[in-house]
Amino acid sequence: MIERPRRLRQNAAMRALVREHHLRADSMILPMFVRDIDEPAPITSMPGVVQHSFASLVAAAREAKDLGVAGVMLFGVPEERDATGSEACQPTSILARGIRAVRDAVGPDFIVCADVCLDEFTSHGHCGVLTEDGRVDNDATLAHYADMAVVCAQAGADMMGLSGMMDGQVGAVREALDEAGFADVVILAYSAKYASAFYGPFREAVQSRLEGDRRTYQQDPANRRESAREVRLDLEEGADIVMVKPALPYLDVIADTRATADVPVAAYVVSGEYAMIEAAAAQGWINRRAAILEALTSVRRAGADIICTYWAAEVAAWLREQ
Ligand code: PBG
Repeated sequence: MIERPRRLRQNAAMRALVREHHLRADSMILPMFVRDIDEPAPITSMPGVVQHSFASLVAAAREAKDLGVAGVMLFGVPEERDATGSEACQPTSILARGIRAVRDAVGPDFIVCADVCLDEFTSHGHCGVLTEDGRVDNDATLAHYADMAVVCAQAGADMMGLSGMMDGQVGAVREALDEAGFADVVILAYSAKYASAFYGPFREAVQSRLEGDRRTYQQDPANRRESAREVRLDLEEGADIVMVKPALPYLDVIADTRATADVPVAAYVVSGEYAMIEAAAAQGWINRRAAILEALTSVRRAGADIICTYWAAEVAAWLREQ
């Protein structure tokens, strides 16, 4: 026998020596939910994740920063919703106040990313405004995203997560940011975002009342080639980072994107992916820590430079122990 691959697996030092991919705290982003409440509120379907009060949000952001996590991605949970999600574009929106609170607490050297999308703020739960006959109005929605992004930039966000899957959203937001003097604000484009069942727990987290589904704007899970088109368009419109979402059921799309895009590629391990592992681990059916590390490492192996995960702070602490 000439080749014996097991030689390189014989002990921990040898395995570490030849390891191809590593998790890093400074390439992870922690998504967080903020609401105007006195105490943090647990999210049943996402054990360990909460709707934060301003105080707990700030504390959690500080902790994440101290652990070396790159930054946070903030989602606002408003008390009032209306047909156009009007709160989203107000400087006093729950999201803008959350951004400001984190920015004031952690200083400049920490990434604060804002979710630029209307679904948290609309009474119908769709990611855009509707036409009279109830369809999601792509072009009318772009103006709302542009206003929302400027409000978030003014509040201190240094990155915009464009998660609405409207055509032309990257270009519209880029233009608005530049005009408002925010040429340095980064656009993280949710380029390949699929209409996924794995967003289920997120709907509880933001108390969305979505009726119907998002299949007229988010991608069909059966399509792979279509992601290349979405990525190409977002890059043409000025995306700085492109993202694939969800992550684990779409590792092929992450690998494709890494192979073709000349910008950093992010992947979002979404609420349902989190919930599945937490639920199985709570039953004692899988080893929680090993499963989390294996799942996140596989996202990196597929080609993601950046990972958005609700486990970011905990994993950062584990990496520090090692
Ligand atoms: C839309 C948005 C969603 C998620 C992130 N941004 C929900 C959706 O598209 O239905 C889901 C994130 C998750 O499930 O963890 N603003």
